[in-house]
Amino acid sequence: MENEVKLITGTMVTFTIAVAALVLIPYFQVRDIPAPDGLKPYTSAELRGREVYIANGCMYCHTQQPRDASFAPDAKRGWGRVSVPADYTYDRPHLLGSMRTGPDLFNIGVRQPSLDWNLGHLYQPRAYVKESIMPSYPYMFEVKDKADKDETVVNLPPGTAPEGKVVVAKPEALDLVKYLQSLKRNYPIVPADPQ
Ligand code: HEC
Repeated sequence: MENEVKLITGTMVTFTIAVAALVLIPYFQVRDIPAPDGLKPYTSAELRGREVYIANGCMYCHTQQPRDASFAPDAKRGWGRVSVPADYTYDRPHLLGSMRTGPDLFNIGVRQPSLDWNLGHLYQPRAYVKESIMPSYPYMFEVKDKADKDETVVNLPPGTAPEGKVVVAKPEALDLVKYLQSLKRNYPIVPADPQ
């Protein structure tokens, strides 16, 4: 019986230390950090696009956390400055990701603001990057003989659209690109308090 008490007490102590170190202390460190002036809350279209990003598993291949030069040459890759906690103020849930099969997207709105490029790349990544292993997302588009007045035709590189047809973006593709275009962390940040 004595050993069981020790075992249970030991487990509880270990669990409490782990929760404090990994959950509680970080939570109290970042919870009162104000949003940077240059960071705008997401619009409703951008939030819908964020849901499309989550539903299609983009974060299984893309991170949203440019790292310090001592960890990875992210700045040299053009992925932007090191992210700080305040950059994530409006990110619920956060989409930090851990796999980098593709580039970090935390600043894709700065690097690639073009609507046509982003739509076309989602329709067929290999039309832009020959060796790309990114999946194509054809179900976010419709292939038609002729676009209606209010539809967005995707301007694709020659030979990408099926012969004699046009490719139009569905609302989910347009929302997703609005979200990607909003990923711009190029505003000034107040340096963290040296402690
Ligand atoms: C299987 C892994 C994988 C998945 C899933 C994936 N991507 Fe990619 N992505 C890549 C790779 C690899 C590249 C680099 C080659 C290229 O540009 O196609 C890339 C490139 C990109 C780029 C251009 C980045 C740059 O710096 O030029 C964007 C934007 C992008 N992906 C968005 C998305 C979105 C949005 C989704 C979800 C709908 C997604 N990706 C899902 C692997 C992936």
